Amino acid sequence: MIVVERRERVGLIILNRPKSLNALNRQLAEETLAVLRELDADPGIGAIVITGNPRAFAAGADIEEMAEKSFTDFYMDDFLAPWDEVRQISKPIIAAVAGFALGGGCELALLCDMIIASDDAQFGQPEIKLGILPGIGGSQRLARSVGKAMAMDLVLTGRNIGAQEAKEIGLVARVVPKDELMQNALEAAHTIAGYNAPAVKMAKRAVNAAFETPLAEGLRQERLLFQAAFATEGQKEGMNAFVKKRAPVFRHR
Ligand code: HXC
Repeated sequence: MIVVERRERVGLIILNRPKSLNALNRQLAEETLAVLRELDADPGIGAIVITGNPRAFAAGADIEEMAEKSFTDFYMDDFLAPWDEVRQISKPIIAAVAGFALGGGCELALLCDMIIASDDAQFGQPEIKLGILPGIGGSQRLARSVGKAMAMDLVLTGRNIGAQEAKEIGLVARVVPKDELMQNALEAAHTIAGYNAPAVKMAKRAVNAAFETPLAEGLRQERLLFQAAFATEGQKEGMNAFVKKRAPVFRHR
């Protein structure tokens, strides 16, 4: 249900259930997580891009798969659990979003570290229209990402917003013309993957601490990670290269 490509130091995951607008069923979740874990463990990979197709990043969790489930079904066999593991991935993940990113699709984009959207992208949490609510962090990550006012608006009304509004509220980092989406996302990923890999990992961890800890604890973690960066070969290389006015060559260790 996914296609995986390796482009130099970038791993590209393409969600591939086009007929159902990449509805996120269990198999797609398990395949995606298995590949994310594999790419995370691969020293030859420095960043990951997740994308869909021109019509949809993902139109949400698979409604057909969920429709007849009971509380006990979900409680005893949490089919959303694989998505919880995305946050264990230590390398940066960019969501390249074209078309629909709704419900679980919007939540998957939010699970990534950075969203780059094509100008036709649509984001929303329409679960309320189905008689439910977001289930893989939509209410929590959306609120942290865009604040209470917009999170309440989106989660309670279920309305979609376009890419430009998503940019204005801070949900997405960049909006680009549709035909430039993949080039832009891959360039960003190649840039990240070219830097000192341990520092990249530390930087992701430090920013995430801002969302998971009180400020004092986040600042402590940042300082420690900053100090730890000086234990990496890449710090010596990066700073020596600057002093000698040459381009750094990072060996990613
Ligand atoms: C299963 C889906 C689907 C979904 C679309 N499809 N979204 N199947 N689960 N989430 C299927 C349709 O049934 C249809 O199949 C095909 O994809 C094309 O969709 P259409 O509706 O014909 O396309 P269109 O008219 O362009 O409308 C696009 C759309 C609409 C606005 C995105 O499909 C839609 O509203 N989808 C549901 C969006 C949603 O409610 N998402 C939240 C899901 S709940 P056929 O066989 O008829 O061609 C959720 C919970 C999150 O995500 C918490 C846990 C992860």
